[in-house]
Amino acid sequence: MYHSKITGLGHYVPDNIVTNDDLAKIIDTNDEWIQERTGIQERRHIVRGEDTTTSMGVKAAKIAIERSGLSNDDIDFIVFATISPDYYFPGPGVALQKELGLRTIGALDVRNQCSGFVYALSVADQYIKTGMYKNILVVASEVQSLGLDMTTRGRNVSVIFGDGAGAAVLSREEDVTKGILSTHLHSEGEHAKELSVLAPGMGGRWVSDIIAENNPDDESYFPYMNGQFVFKHAVVRFSEVINEGLVANNLQVSDIDMLIPHQANLRISQFIQKKFGLNDDQVFNNIQKYGNTTAASIPIALTEAWEQGKIKSGDTVVLAAFGSGFTWASAIIKW
Ligand code: ACO
Repeated sequence: MYHSKITGLGHYVPDNIVTNDDLAKIIDTNDEWIQERTGIQERRHIVRGEDTTTSMGVKAAKIAIERSGLSNDDIDFIVFATISPDYYFPGPGVALQKELGLRTIGALDVRNQCSGFVYALSVADQYIKTGMYKNILVVASEVQSLGLDMTTRGRNVSVIFGDGAGAAVLSREEDVTKGILSTHLHSEGEHAKELSVLAPGMGGRWVSDIIAENNPDDESYFPYMNGQFVFKHAVVRFSEVINEGLVANNLQVSDIDMLIPHQANLRISQFIQKKFGLNDDQVFNNIQKYGNTTAASIPIALTEAWEQGKIKSGDTVVLAAFGSGFTWASAIIKW
């Protein structure tokens, strides 16, 4: 039995900064409303033709591999989390394999929305624990900007999301007191529609329906979010899944050196921080700069926290996510 540990981290965000004031030029919104409710000051949007979900994932992955000290040939498996793939199929895992020139290793695509990275990490962790693979590339990348309703109709959603990518190399660790100690995954499909995009999908609205009807008011291909409902569930599930991880490892809240919550909304992160009595040094947030990048938000935040020296060897790091599905998940890591 082995453990897995993160040996390399990387992130990439597009250069194109979109401030709240920029959005206010095209949507009936304003900086004060956005900052007060979400904490977001700006986000990144790709420039078409310059970046895609795959290309951003590749850029983040290259940095993670380089920092791991491994070569591309050492990577045994890819797990790629996204809800915004470049194509309906195939998923971006195989495109990443090609772009990085990796061996013809397996590539698994994970969805699971904002919990996608923690789900992907959990999958990779199991492969390493069993001894099947030694080094796995876990990537999360999202282009949200192209799928948003950038009119006033979609303003409660479109001001929140941004584009970006993060990646981690997970490697075999022989010392089972280190690395990923446990992961905890949950779902509750009952609330699927409260945060969803219905089209395209075989059971929802298919592209041919939308084209045939040619209805400019059709909202089924834009994200729908019942914001207050999501908020109420998020704060409960975040708390539960953090506690679940602590209990499973016989840890106390005081043992947490760094909590990296999914960057859903600064108000949600602050609620959790207050509930657990954590100080500012124990929780990392960067939603102010990047908005909510769904699956990519945790690896982007984790990378930045590590780059800023906020995570040190021996630290207990908690990753926690909540998102559409609903899904929620946590990972407890001894760094
Ligand atoms: N700018 C200005 N006004 C807006 C905007 C906007 N961008 N969006 C909505 N409004 C208006 C509404 O039209 C409404 O106006 P009305 O009172 O005249 O009808 C008013 O603001 C209040 O609308 P609500 O939707 O009730 O806004 P609320 O106060 O609930 O805030 C928000 C919305 C920020 C989404 C909040 O519900 C929230 O924080 N929810 C948590 C969900 C979340 O963070 N999701 C992140 C993505 S999901 C995930 O990652 C898990």
